[in-house]
Amino acid sequence: MSNPSILILAGDGIGPEVMDEVKKIITWFGAKRDLAFDVSEDLVGGAAYDAHGTPLTDATMDKAQNVDAVLLGAVGGPKYDVLDFSVKPERGLLRLRKEMDLFANLRPAQCFDALADFSSLKKDVVAGLDIMIVRELTSGIYFGEPRGIIVENNERVGINTQRYTESEIERVARSAFELAKRRGNKVCSMEKANVMESGILWREVVQKIHDEEYPEVELSHMYADAGAMQLCRWPKQFDVIVTDNLFGDLLSDAAAMLTGSLGMLPSASLGAPMANGRPKAMYEPVHGSAPDIAGEGKANPIACILSFSMALRYSFDLGAEADRLEAAVEKVLADGVRTADLLGPEDGTPVSTSEMGDKIIAALDASL
Ligand code: IPM
Ligand code: MG
Repeated sequence: MSNPSILILAGDGIGPEVMDEVKKIITWFGAKRDLAFDVSEDLVGGAAYDAHGTPLTDATMDKAQNVDAVLLGAVGGPKYDVLDFSVKPERGLLRLRKEMDLFANLRPAQCFDALADFSSLKKDVVAGLDIMIVRELTSGIYFGEPRGIIVENNERVGINTQRYTESEIERVARSAFELAKRRGNKVCSMEKANVMESGILWREVVQKIHDEEYPEVELSHMYADAGAMQLCRWPKQFDVIVTDNLFGDLLSDAAAMLTGSLGMLPSASLGAPMANGRPKAMYEPVHGSAPDIAGEGKANPIACILSFSMALRYSFDLGAEADRLEAAVEKVLADGVRTADLLGPEDGTPVSTSEMGDKIIAALDASL
């Protein structure tokens, strides 16, 4: 059998730097755990635009469709702000999500013990926090038609459409319930059924899937604004949160910050199973391209490294190896190793991006 295949799309800004550390980790698993991957690399976002005039070529899209997992760094940067909307770096990412039909975006928000003090919330509110946001990723207002900027009564009107079909809600609800069964057995579904018809349908369909297929999982519903408030008040009440594309975008950034740093959080975007039984999958850090620190070796590679850990778990069925990698990250943090984002102004000297990667490799070596 051939090795599992991975396509690396490092992208823009800090994407290539953090991805360099992931490459070291992949090499480590090949050398020390006999887990070889066929790794190829290509361009996405502004980097692809610079080379080809488009944020994602058809050839790259084709490669992404035919690998076992895509690892993506980050896209975007101020240099590309002037570009036409249709060729902005973000369009490359959105095309990947849409055409690979990666409907379930898993965004864990986990607070590492060593960082509990670093959260903007009180330590007892966040210590031990472990929640999973399941964000619908291929529909809703991000993709709904009609959309655009039109002229009406002599003024411009910006239009986007929130739209969900029952089957789109059903499949992401199932993903959330399946995950909950393997975690704390609780799902909270968030929408705005008080003001949006799409929210009314969302709530009904999630409830139906629960009653018919997952009655043993505890289900609650919350308006998304109240959900945001509860996330800040007492986040540990949640286990799995399932929500739409736009609310999921906002709520996952808020949840990320609870844990101390956006530089810590990975994500997995999963679609339907392929012929080999593996889900279509793309893994990426939740943070963006951070152009202000790009190229300076300041970026925290942990979110990208933990995204690879999610690939080990969800694409390659290597849960024990994912545990090993996560324990190595935890060890390094417990030892006080910090990139700049994890330090206050008077908290000592940060390590560089590559030093953080090296420390994690050393912890992996020590785990053998
Ligand atoms: C995210 C990002 C993206 C989104 C952008 C870069 C298109 O914010 O993955 O959360 O809005 O989905
Ligand atoms: Mg976002």
